[in-house]
Amino acid sequence: MKLIEAKDYQDMSRKAADIIIDQVKKKPNSVLGLATGGTMIGTYAALVDDYKQNGTSYQQVKTVNLDEYIGLAPEHPNSYHYYMSDHLFNHIDIPKSQTYLPNGLAKDIEAECQRYENLLEQIGGIDLQLLGIGQNGHIGFNEPGTSFESTTHVVELALSTRQANSRFFNRFEEVPTHAITMGIATIMKSKKILLLASGKKKAHIISQLFAGKVTTEIPASILNTHPNVIVIADQEALSLLSPEKRKVYT
Ligand code: F6R
Repeated sequence: MKLIEAKDYQDMSRKAADIIIDQVKKKPNSVLGLATGGTMIGTYAALVDDYKQNGTSYQQVKTVNLDEYIGLAPEHPNSYHYYMSDHLFNHIDIPKSQTYLPNGLAKDIEAECQRYENLLEQIGGIDLQLLGIGQNGHIGFNEPGTSFESTTHVVELALSTRQANSRFFNRFEEVPTHAITMGIATIMKSKKILLLASGKKKAHIISQLFAGKVTTEIPASILNTHPNVIVIADQEALSLLSPEKRKVYT
C-alpha cells in the first residue's frame, strides 16, 4: 500500500479526483469501480467541476458500484442508485446505460448476485476501484468476519453500520437491514484500488489498517496483500498513525 497524505477533506477529494481523471485520460474506456457514502461526495464534486471546466469525457467509461441496499427503489433518495445520479452521473457525459449497480429490488437476490459477478467479467474487470472504509474496517458492505474468498453476496448490515448510515435517513428504523455487496475477492480482482479516509472517526481503523496484520476481523486489512493500492487519508484520519509508519508507506 502507498499512502498519500492530505491536509483535509477537500485536499483528499481533489487528490482522489486527480487520480481518477488521470486514469480516464490514459484509458478513456476505463471501468471504474465506485463507492458511495460521505467520504466520496467531495471527490465526485471535484470530478464534476473538472468536467465543467476541462471537459474530461466519460463517454466510453463504464462504472460499477460496490453495493446497494435491499428494498430501496432506484428513485428512493437514500438508494445508492439515487446517490450516484445525484452526485455524479447527472452532471457528466457518461451514458446511463454504462453505469451499473446491484438491483436491490431483484426478486431472486441470489440470481442478482450471480448476474453482477458475470457482468463484471463481461466488461473486463475493474481498472480502478474507489473504496471508503467503515469504522469497523468494512469495505463495500463486507462486514468483519466476511470471507476473503467472498464474491457478490447479500449481507446483513452490522448494527454499527446502520447507526453510522442513519445520518442520511429520517429515522434509524428506515435504514435497511440488508444490502448486496461485491465480495472481498471481487474487490481484490481490481487492477488498482484507491481507498479514501477522512476525519477523526476513521483514525483508529486507519492505524489498524497500517498495522499490517491481515485478518477477516478487519476486512480492509486484506488490501495489504494487493499489489496496487493507494490510500489517501487526511490529517485527522492519520492522527493515530506514527510519523515512522507514515514514512514507511509514503
Ligand atoms: C459505500 C460503501 C461503504 C462506505 C463506508 C464509509 O458504497 O461501500 O463501505 O465506503 O461505509 O462510509 P462513509 O464514507 O459514509 O464514512
